Amino acid sequence: MKFLLPFVTVASLLFVNNVEARWKPVPGMTWNYVLGAKVDITIEKAQVLDVDYQTDPKLIQQYHNYGKRVVCYFSGGTIEKSRDDYKYYTAVDGLVRNTYGDWPDEKWLDFRKEGIKPLIINRMKKAISSKCDAIEVDNLDGYQISDVKDNWSKPLTKEDTIKFAQWLGNTAHSLGISIGLKNIPGLISSVGPYFDFAINESCIRYKNECAMYRNFIKSGKPVFGITYGSFSGQLDTMCRELNGVGMSMIVKKNQSLTQASTIFDGKTHCGSYFNYGYSTSSSSSGKTIKKVTSRKATTKKASKKVVSTKKSSKTKKVIVVIKKVKKVKN
Ligand SMILES: *[C@@H]1O[C@H](CO)[C@@H](O)[C@H](O)[C@H]1NC(C)=O
Ligand SMILES: *[C@@H]1O[C@H](CO)[C@@H](O)[C@H](O)[C@H]1NC(C)=O
Ligand SMILES: *[C@@H]1O[C@H](CO)[C@@H](O)[C@H](O)[C@H]1NC(C)=O
Repeated sequence: MKFLLPFVTVASLLFVNNVEARWKPVPGMTWNYVLGAKVDITIEKAQVLDVDYQTDPKLIQQYHNYGKRVVCYFSGGTIEKSRDDYKYYTAVDGLVRNTYGDWPDEKWLDFRKEGIKPLIINRMKKAISSKCDAIEVDNLDGYQISDVKDNWSKPLTKEDTIKFAQWLGNTAHSLGISIGLKNIPGLISSVGPYFDFAINESCIRYKNECAMYRNFIKSGKPVFGITYGSFSGQLDTMCRELNGVGMSMIVKKNQSLTQASTIFDGKTHCGSYFNYGYSTSSSSSGKTIKKVTSRKATTKKASKKVVSTKKSSKTKKVIVVIKKVKKVKN
């Protein structure tokens, strides 16, 4: 067996020779969710930054220069009317459907239409050319949302969603980029193996729900969680709901996804009894970054505008920032 190993390694390298090994995040890594504002990278403590997929590639390069990994956000289950590829979506018969009630800038997509595939692949390729390490695909939960389930004559089903999510995972991997799962924690047993990490908002609000991710995390894949509101006011709940689960949790005052963020660290904030839920020895985990960081977001104006804020108490969705895409002149 020992002799075989080098050959196997060479063979597998040859096999994947045109796809670089993708980045695989590990449990314990710290993160920040900054779709809503500019990042002052010089003060950023998190190891992983989640930004919009149309973020200027020069900024993404700067984040890399500071040793950060970059996850790039886009929506796969809806489309914002202001995206520059909107016209290609509407050109596909039956793809773009009704308005998202909570997010009037966005329309639901019938992702069962084959015509969506090249459009999503283009977005993945854009993320890859911008040097994103991973993508995060939002709004796969239409089958659970009234706009879709009570309104379409043939609504999206759970099975449709599983099929699409699996296609997303396979496609991202075939292109050589990592992909994160958002919105459908209930389907994690069917689609978890196709994803490299997950993103969750507000699971601590529901008893024993963060723990739904435990097996996924045990399999070596991180879950980047966010809690909105006061840090101290929710500390007891976090200590209870996150003990032994292994989630990488941050807290922000509100849903404007600015840079200001506090990294939750179980042993520091709850006590030595706290069980991280993942092995802290085997990985380059976030153990070195323990300090509670609270900082002001930069006030510099980015060439972006926040187009909508979520008002409902249900925090399924985050602020989406639409960037005025600068025309590149050569
Ligand atoms: C379906 O959704 C559209 C757009 O949100 C809305 O105008 C329409 O009233 C809805 N129809 C039903 C039957 O709910
Ligand atoms: C986070 O987890 C909760 C509880 O399971 C769930 O209701 C919510 O939809 C999840 N959020 C995301 C963004 O996946
Ligand atoms: C949200 O929180 C950030 C920083 O924590 C603050 O700068 C911003 O003004 C807040 N926004 C609202 C709408 O309260």
